[in-house]
Amino acid sequence: MAQSATSPTASSEVRHLTVRIMRFNPEADERPHWEQYPMDAEPWDRVLDVIQNIKWYHDDTLGLRRSCAHGVCGSDAMRINGRNQLACKVLVKSLTSDTITVEPILGLPVIKDLIVDMKPFFDHYKSVMPFLVNDDPAPTTERLQSQAEREVYDETTKCILCACCTTACPPFWGDRKYVGPAAIVNAHRFIFDSRDRGASERLEILNDAEGVWRCRTVFNCTEACPRGIQVTKAISQVKRALLTGEVPKASPTVES
Ligand code: SF4
Ligand code: SF4
Ligand code: FES
Repeated sequence: MAQSATSPTASSEVRHLTVRIMRFNPEADERPHWEQYPMDAEPWDRVLDVIQNIKWYHDDTLGLRRSCAHGVCGSDAMRINGRNQLACKVLVKSLTSDTITVEPILGLPVIKDLIVDMKPFFDHYKSVMPFLVNDDPAPTTERLQSQAEREVYDETTKCILCACCTTACPPFWGDRKYVGPAAIVNAHRFIFDSRDRGASERLEILNDAEGVWRCRTVFNCTEACPRGIQVTKAISQVKRALLTGEVPKASPTVES
């Protein structure tokens, strides 16, 4: 259903966008369908602002999920022009065309419109023990760690569990039992932590037919990650640990 273009903006740089959104209400629709909304937007608006304006001023039946609006919570992952992205991190000025398409991320059941059921994603996340395992007697101070020890898993601490990587992964689309890149990233974060004692248990979980070996090194996950995490590199490090039986707990390039 087309809506009239009235966005609360009046700049000369205003963009006149056509926003095509994949709509689906399982309680009312037989299948997903596109709806189109003419919208005005400022260059510094984010795609999230545009979608919220559609919901607030034109069509309050539109379903979307968001929380922080600043790239931190990971809840507004969606396919924008065919690429998984956080809607709050995509500026209107970066759009090369005045027509944009917005769809839910792929591979997870659609609850409504842009809202997907994240339970299968979080079930995979939980399956890799994403928490510190250490039954050693508690020290009287903190469990200290050198810079070199921290460096080896520093990047994978940045994950915000947005699911952009897992839902961009062709093996995951074909096999939803595959644990997926996000779960491997979060396993990596603890496997290589010098304070952790659960690496062998996690590696055993990931050595499964639905674990790291499902990865075909297509790099979609690295391209999709809004946090710039080298996802495929982290997966390769886990594979190498499985093949060699060695889990380096400190970076050789950083002084301790
Ligand atoms: S590199 Fe592996 S995990 Fe990442 S998208 Fe490709 S197949 Fe999936
Ligand atoms: S690794 Fe990146 S893309 Fe994947 S869930 Fe974490 S933040 Fe999102
Ligand atoms: S709304 Fe939180 S990351 Fe976009």
